[in-house]
Amino acid sequence: MDQLHPITHAAGTEQRPPDWAVMSPARISHARRVGTLMGEWAAALGHDEGTRIRWRATGLLHDALKEEAVEALRPLVDGAEAWPDPLLHGPACANRLRAAGVDDEPLLRAIAFHTTGHRDLDALGQALYMADFLEPGRLALGQERADLRGRLPGDWHAVLVDVATAKIGILIDGFIPLSPATAGFWEVITAPVFRKSRNG
Ligand SMILES: [Fe+2]
Ligand SMILES: [Fe+2]
Repeated sequence: MDQLHPITHAAGTEQRPPDWAVMSPARISHARRVGTLMGEWAAALGHDEGTRIRWRATGLLHDALKEEAVEALRPLVDGAEAWPDPLLHGPACANRLRAAGVDDEPLLRAIAFHTTGHRDLDALGQALYMADFLEPGRLALGQERADLRGRLPGDWHAVLVDVATAKIGILIDGFIPLSPATAGFWEVITAPVFRKSRNG
């Protein structure tokens, strides 16, 4: 990994959000728990220090604009009308980071699609998708989340499908349409070769 952008470095080492973040103390605590979990997985997977910092940073940064007004988020996102309001903070944050000079595309993609998933998420993006759902501050279904956390990072793909099943199930139960990004993500992670390895 090339040298990390100062924003990424500060987020991944000092757990410090950028100046333009709009985050309550509770939101920062959530983001730090997500980043800590991701850093633990990166370490357990044997990644080097730079990668561990980058994974922690992605967790810390993902909700930097979660509490910004929707009216302020829309101008940051091309095709904002395609995004439901509660999900706009992902692509808006990615574009704000890009404008600040962050050019780490897998990190930006992870943040943009952390709510929906996306067929092109790499391990970092998958980690954020899971950690956002599994971080220990989420008290509902605490035991189920703890059980899933306990299987990571070793049982990566099976837990990824279990998390996606839970998240997409909430949408289906609410008769909420799946976005193309979510449909593509689901298609990729449940591809036959992967289903075979999961069962075999
Ligand atoms: Fe979020
Ligand atoms: Fe989050």
